[in-house]
Amino acid sequence: MTEAILEARGLTKIYTIGEHREHILSDISLQIAAGEFVVVSGSSGSGKTTLLSLLSGLDRPTSGRIILAGRDITELSEDQLAPVRNVDTGFVFQAFHLIPSLNALENVMFPAELRHDRAAAAKAENLLRRVGLWERRTSFPPQLSGGEKQRVAICRALINDPKIVFADEPTGNLDSENSRGIVELLAGLHRERGTTLVLATHSPEIAARAERIIVLHDGRLAEGTEGN
Ligand SMILES: Nc1ncnc2c1ncn2[C@@H]1O[C@H](COP(=O)(O)OP(=O)(O)OP(=O)(O)O)[C@@H](O)[C@H]1O
Ligand SMILES: [Mg+2]
Repeated sequence: MTEAILEARGLTKIYTIGEHREHILSDISLQIAAGEFVVVSGSSGSGKTTLLSLLSGLDRPTSGRIILAGRDITELSEDQLAPVRNVDTGFVFQAFHLIPSLNALENVMFPAELRHDRAAAAKAENLLRRVGLWERRTSFPPQLSGGEKQRVAICRALINDPKIVFADEPTGNLDSENSRGIVELLAGLHRERGTTLVLATHSPEIAARAERIIVLHDGRLAEGTEGN
């Protein structure tokens, strides 16, 4: 296999509620190659969102290590993690997390403006055109449908041209036509730019396009799915 862009070693996530310690993820080890297209599947509550949050550096494991592009991100401070989150990775949340006071175009531009990219507006306009939202660019999140918000969130994750895109149920709120558009957009990035894709999804259509499917079952890798 080509060099791993992402590696997890013995990842464990435990939430303590009162006296009770809940194991959400237990001893997850896996490697994802640069340019790979991986789907994480598993039933509701199996730990997909938690795993993506840890792998992308949005959340920290209770124990274990994550090596992203050759760096152990579990050792980084919040300040050191900020550029990893903004530039190296793009994240599409299950619940979008758009900024309500910014319109669609401004939401998409935001991560590029943080790094003073002069082409932020042009790139954002281009992305919104590609997902069919050009006409909604001045709408604010509360005025957008669920599927429109999802497409804005995807554009925002892509604007800094990240090496890895993590997406949590990226087509969960979309009808079949819009789902296809999003899958084509993501698969096109993978094909043309070698972007590594890590998508959590229940969608059989997306899983069919992936090169590998990692199955979670009660916070553990299901037998035989961790192979590299
Ligand atoms: N902050 C938290 N505190 C306590 N338990 C949590 C917390 N976040 C998630 N959990 C629990 O961790 C488990 C895994 O949740 P997670 O969101 O990762 O599942 P999922 O596979 O993404 O599910 P879905 O398909 O419904 O999105 C669930 O049992 C959930 O209740
Ligand atoms: Mg989830």
